Amino acid sequence: MPHDFMPGLAGVPAATSSISDVDGQRGILEYRGIRVETLCTSSSYLETAYLLLFGYLPSASEFQQWVTDITHHRRIKFRIIDLLKSLPESGHPMDALQAAVAALGMFYPGRNVKDVENNYWSAVRLVAKLPTIVAAWARLRHGDDPIPPRDDLGFSENFFYMLAESVAPPVWGEIFDDCLILHAEHTMNASTFTGLVTASTLADPYTVVASSIGALKGPLHGGANEEVVVMLREIGTVDKARPYVERALQNKKKLMGFGHRVYKVKDPRATVLQELCRRLFKECGNSPLYEIALEVEAAAGATLNSKGIYPNVDFYSGIIYDKMGIDVDLFTPLFAMSRVSGWLAHWLEQLRENKLFRPDQIYSGEHNRPYVPIDKR
Ligand code: CMC
Repeated sequence: MPHDFMPGLAGVPAATSSISDVDGQRGILEYRGIRVETLCTSSSYLETAYLLLFGYLPSASEFQQWVTDITHHRRIKFRIIDLLKSLPESGHPMDALQAAVAALGMFYPGRNVKDVENNYWSAVRLVAKLPTIVAAWARLRHGDDPIPPRDDLGFSENFFYMLAESVAPPVWGEIFDDCLILHAEHTMNASTFTGLVTASTLADPYTVVASSIGALKGPLHGGANEEVVVMLREIGTVDKARPYVERALQNKKKLMGFGHRVYKVKDPRATVLQELCRRLFKECGNSPLYEIALEVEAAAGATLNSKGIYPNVDFYSGIIYDKMGIDVDLFTPLFAMSRVSGWLAHWLEQLRENKLFRPDQIYSGEHNRPYVPIDKR
C-alpha cells in the first residue's frame, strides 16, 4: 500500500476553513476564534449560529433581525406533517428527519446557490425548522398532534413547548441552549465532510443537510450519544460499572462516548457538559445515570487515558437530555438541530471558492478479466 494513502483520511486536510479550530493536544475548541466555553457563558445558540454562518458577532439590530427571521420561519407546511404521518412510527427519528429535510427542498426550490439572498433564507429555514420537525415526529409517533411553535418563546424554550405543550423550567432552556452551542460545529468531522462533498456538486442546501444527517446517524459519530445512555442503563448501578468496563475492554469492545480522532485529552465539550449536569441536578434532583457515568469514566481512564482516549461530547450530553425526559432515540436529532448551523457555515464557505470533490483511489482489483457467459460459470 503506498504510504501516502491514509485510511479514513486521518490527518489529511480536506479544505481550508476559518469556521472553527480544534487543538486536540490542549483540548481547545474555538468557533471563529472564540472559545466554546466563552460562548456558553456569554452567548446564545442563535447568536452562535449567526457567528458561525456569517463570521462575526452580530450588532444588536442584526441579531434582532436574525431572531425575528428565525422565529417567523419555524412553522412547517402541513404536507411535511403528512409526510411524517406516513412514515412507520417505529422508524428511527434520524430517518424521519432526513426524509423531511430532503422534502423541504421541494417546497423551497431555489436551486441557484449563487443567489446570496436565497442562500440566506435557506439557512434561516433550515435552522428554524429542524426543531419543529423533530418535535412533530416525537409527538406524531405516539399518536399526538404536533404543537405549532410559539413566537413569544425563545429557540430552546419553544422546542420544549413543541415537545410537551407546556413551558419547561427556565433552567432547562438555559442548559439546553448551551448544549446546542456545544454541538453546533466541529471542524472536518464525517457529517460536515459529507455535506461539503454534496455542496461541491452545487446541490441545494436541503440536499446538503439531508446528506449530513445521514452521516451523523452512525454510532461512530452522532449516534454515540444514544448508545452511551443505553450502556449506562444496561450497567444499572454504580457498583456494576467497573466490572462492566473491565469486561468490555478485555473483550476489545469500544466504549461509546470515549475517544476522538483529534482530541488526545478530554474533550472540552465533555467538561462543560459535566458542569451543566451538575447545575441541572442541583436544581432538578440527581440522575443515577450520572453517578454511573462518573464511575465508568474513572474505571475506563485507568486503561484508556494513557492511549489518549477520554470522554467525548457524546458521553455526558445524553444524561442531560434523559433528565429532561427526552426519548433516547431523539438525542442524535438534537445533535442535528444544532449542527445544522455548522454544516451550513461550511456550505457557504465551500460555495465561495467551490471545487468539486473528486478524490482518487488506489485500485486493488484485477485487470483484463474475461467475461464468462452465465452457462459456463
Ligand atoms: N473504547 C475503547 N477503545 C477505544 C475507543 C473506545 N471508545 N476508541 C478508540 N479505542 C482504541 C481502539 O480500540 C484502538 O485500539 P488499538 O490501537 O489497540 O487497536 C485505538 O484506540 C484507536 O482507535 P480507532 O478507532 O482506530 O481510532 P479513531 O481515531 O478512528 O477513533 C472514534 C475515533 C471516535 C471513531 C473512536 O474513538 C470510537 O469509535 N469511539 C466510540 C464511538 C464514539 O464515542 N463516537 C463519538 C465521537 S465524538 C462525537 C462525534 O464526532 O460525533
